Amino acid sequence: MSADGGVFNPKSYLKAKSIIIMNYKLIEMQVHGDRRGKLISLEGLKNVPFEIKRIYYMFDTLPNESRGFHAHKELEQIIIAMDGACRFILDDGQKRESVLLNRPDVGLYIGKNMWREMHDFSYGCKLVVLASEYYDEKEYIRNYDDFLKSIKDGDNK
Ligand code: TYD
Repeated sequence: MSADGGVFNPKSYLKAKSIIIMNYKLIEMQVHGDRRGKLISLEGLKNVPFEIKRIYYMFDTLPNESRGFHAHKELEQIIIAMDGACRFILDDGQKRESVLLNRPDVGLYIGKNMWREMHDFSYGCKLVVLASEYYDEKEYIRNYDDFLKSIKDGDNK
């Protein structure tokens, strides 16, 4: 947990390329910028640590709605707030941390066996997600008690 009451703000950590905390990390993307503006390129197995099989995005989320509330057995993801901000809760079954995602040049990598929730979407927030697997509902754990049990039983090690 960070010193500012649990809110992990990537702005404080931009000097580091990545920070490993539980099975997630914030990755600072390389920005190709010139006087015209900025561009970021993401390539599977290069600056994205897995082969990208799926891309999806979330937009028009109502400000009072939360999403997520699940873990994945195998899936890895990188999530980028292309516009606006949203707060992630990340939970490995023992610790629960809060990460503010609010920059298009910082990606949140989430590995397997991590419970995630998304809260506090700003108006107009747009999240893009790169995923290591195709969509498969069977691969989700959507019940928190089942998640804790899977961690305890070592189902996904
Ligand atoms: P859901 O898993 O409920 O979103 P979240 O956990 O982020 O709140 O997904 C919403 C709907 O979209 C649900 O009907 C499943 C569908 N969906 C797909 O068809 N493909 C996908 O890649 C994803 C992520 C969701």
